[in-house]
Amino acid sequence: MEVFKIYKKLEKHLNDRENVGFVPTMGALHRGHLSLIKRSLADNPQTVVSIFVNPTQFDDAADLQRYPRTLAKDLELLQTLGAKLWVYTPEAADLYGESLAVGEYDFGALTKTMEGRSRHQHFEGVATVVEKLLRKVGPTKAYFGEKDFQQVRVIETLVAQKNLQTQIIRCPIVREANGLAMSSRNALLTTEERAQAGLLYQTLQAAKTKFKTQSIDQIHQWVQDVFNKNPQFTLDYFSICDETHLQEIKNPIGGIPRGFIAAKLGNIRLIDNLSF
Ligand code: PAJ
Repeated sequence: MEVFKIYKKLEKHLNDRENVGFVPTMGALHRGHLSLIKRSLADNPQTVVSIFVNPTQFDDAADLQRYPRTLAKDLELLQTLGAKLWVYTPEAADLYGESLAVGEYDFGALTKTMEGRSRHQHFEGVATVVEKLLRKVGPTKAYFGEKDFQQVRVIETLVAQKNLQTQIIRCPIVREANGLAMSSRNALLTTEERAQAGLLYQTLQAAKTKFKTQSIDQIHQWVQDVFNKNPQFTLDYFSICDETHLQEIKNPIGGIPRGFIAAKLGNIRLIDNLSF
C-alpha cells in the first residue's frame, strides 16, 4: 500500500490505465467502504482509494466541521487488507487549485427531490469533486454504494453527460446487526442512539410489506405515526420513488419502486433506502 498527497506523484505509479478500479471516499472508513474496496481489488489489478472530505458538498458549516477525520486509523485499516492499494489523500488545493469553485451541472428532476431538496448544492459539490477525481484517475471502473442511492444516480448521469469512460459499479448497503446502514456519521452517535437508529431500516422494511396491500397515502401516514411516537427523531422525508428518475411513485405499478428515508437523531442526519 502506498499513500500520496499529490496526484502527480501517484500518477507515475499507475502503469496500465486500462485496468484501474477507483473508490472515492471521505474517510472515517468502515465495513461499508471496505466492501467497495474489496470488490475493486477483486475486479481490477490496480485499485486507487481516495480519502478527501469535500467541503463543497456540505451546505452546513457545523456538519463539515464535525465530520469525523480519522486518517491514521483509516490507513491502518486499509493496511490490514494486505493488498496492493494506492491511497490518494489530497489537500483541497491539489484537486481544486486556489478557489473552491463548484461546477455547473443540470441533472434535471434527479436532484430536485430528497437529498437535493434538503441539502442546498449538495449534488453539485459531489459532482464537482467526482468529476475532478474521475478525470485525474481515469479509472476503468468506479465503485459507489447504494447507501447513497441518489448520489449513484447522479454520478451515473454525470458520466453519461460528460462522456467519461468509466463504468459505475453499484454496491449493496452494508448494515449493522440492528439494520442501521453503516455510515461515517454513525461514529457521532452515542451507544444508545446507535441502538435506536435501527428505526430507519425497520420502518423501511415494514413500509415495504405494507406496499403490497396499502395505498401510498396510508403508508405515508403510518410512517408519520411511527416518527410521532419516536420524538427523539425528526423525520426529514419518507418517499417511495422509481429507481431511475427518483420521482415519487403515485401508484404501485409505475416504475421500479424503492423506499427512501432521512431523519435526524439529535443533530445527526441519517439516510437509508430499500428496494420495494
Ligand atoms: P462517503 O460517505 O465516505 O462514502 C464513500 C462511498 O462509500 C460512497 O459510494 C458510499 O455510498 C459508500 N458507502 C458508505 N456507506 C456505505 C454502506 N453502509 N454500504 C455500502 N456502501 C457505503 O459518498 C461520499 O463519501 C462522497 O459523497 C464522495 C462520493 C466520496 C464524494 O465526495
